[in-house]
Amino acid sequence: MMSAFFISLLHISFFLLFQKTAITAAAAAATQLRPGFYAETCPAAESIVRDVMAKTMKREIRNAASVMRLQFHDCFVNGCDASLLLDDTPDMLGEKLSLSNINSLRSYEVIDGAKAALEQACPGVVSCADIIIMAARDAVVLSGGPNWEVKLGRLDSLTASQEDANRIMPSPRSNASYLIDLFSQFNLSVQDLVALSGSHSIGNGRCFSIVFRLYNQSGTGRPDPAMDPEYREKLDRLCPLGGDGNVTGDLDATPYVFDNQYFKDLVSLRGFLNSDQTLFSLDARTREYVQHFSRDQEVFFAAFVEGMIKMGDLQSGRPGEVRKNCRKVNSPPLHALLK
Ligand code: HEM
Ligand SMILES: *[C@@H]1O[C@H](CO)[C@@H](O)[C@H](O)[C@H]1NC(C)=O
Ligand SMILES: *[C@@H]1O[C@H](CO)[C@@H](O)[C@H](O)[C@H]1NC(C)=O
Ligand SMILES: *[C@@H]1O[C@H](CO)[C@@H](O)[C@H](O)[C@H]1NC(C)=O
Ligand SMILES: *[C@@H]1O[C@H](CO)[C@@H](O)[C@H](O)[C@H]1NC(C)=O
Repeated sequence: MMSAFFISLLHISFFLLFQKTAITAAAAAATQLRPGFYAETCPAAESIVRDVMAKTMKREIRNAASVMRLQFHDCFVNGCDASLLLDDTPDMLGEKLSLSNINSLRSYEVIDGAKAALEQACPGVVSCADIIIMAARDAVVLSGGPNWEVKLGRLDSLTASQEDANRIMPSPRSNASYLIDLFSQFNLSVQDLVALSGSHSIGNGRCFSIVFRLYNQSGTGRPDPAMDPEYREKLDRLCPLGGDGNVTGDLDATPYVFDNQYFKDLVSLRGFLNSDQTLFSLDARTREYVQHFSRDQEVFFAAFVEGMIKMGDLQSGRPGEVRKNCRKVNSPPLHALLK
């Protein structure tokens, strides 16, 4: 017992010592994000990720939506640094089990697959944080949405924070004014908020995320009045009171096509999430954009690309590394420990 305790103390102090060294090294290596960052060091990087996405969508088309969502949940919590991908350790509660992510985020194994392919082609070069950014873009393109050039050169975090994820990530109950405030803290505009919410043009949500608005909106004991009655009856059948919260429904009427159907649905009061519907029903500032995007898909696409690039620019300024395995930080080399 005693010696195990002693060894683990030793382990911890070695670990702290190493962290200090890593921090200095990595801080000095912080880089400006730019297109073509891997042109010399891993020229096939972007085509490798695109292939992985195309293959995984053939297996299960929803993987596009699930992977694209990872960019939002990564970038909002201490910048786009793949902190989201770290598994829990005895010393660290990661973000995977945070309120918004538990039983909800999925397709982590797609990122693992891309990482494995990249480690074969160019070991130790492409960060997990950049893989998320490339894969999210590819998910949109392969679903029929716009294409754009991504900026690369991110480092992976050395840590993650469940507490920060719990504090920051918005609940499906959020309303438009709350979301406007939240996004403004990341220098994202009302237009960015509405355009980025258009990501819900693909994918699914769980009954767990909507039962309150079907049966007890804001504690009234009544459903959300801002719902088309026929659509509400359909959701009532999918998600009966007291039913399985893990059953999923489509976020818009064309859940595998990245298009502006989502905005058309909001205008006809057929939004799935409360946070979606309030963008049309409760706030004039966001409604204007919803209406515009519902009428003009090209305007939506341009605004969406702008929002994704801005969101991808979020950085923590903390030290980082290029992880070998997206689920854990690189371990210090043994000789560093023995010195
Ligand atoms: C504006 C605030 C947002 C809120 C409140 C929100 C909330 C949610 C919720 C509750 C779900 C369903 C989760 C579940 O029931 O398990 C969901 C799904 C999804 N979200 Fe968001 N989201 C927001 C913004 C975004 C952004 C900015 C993106 C990406 C750019 C995004 C991408 C997605 C995608 C693609 C899905 C479907 C995932 C799948 O099918 O696996 N969301 N979101
Ligand atoms: C929006 O949500 C916030 C925070 O949950 C709440 O204080 C506010 O009253 C809500 N606003 C509207 C218009 O419902
Ligand atoms: C938002 O912009 C301000 C002013 O340019 C800057 O100081 C701040 O760091 C930015 N915040 C984020 C989260 O990027
Ligand atoms: C509805 O929500 C309110 C406030 O959260 C709660 O007091 C009430 O018991 C709920 N009613 C039902 C029928 O669940
Ligand atoms: C969904 O499934 C998970 C894992 O099986 C379970 O732990 C969780 O309680 C379920 N969630 C809901 C809302 O039913």
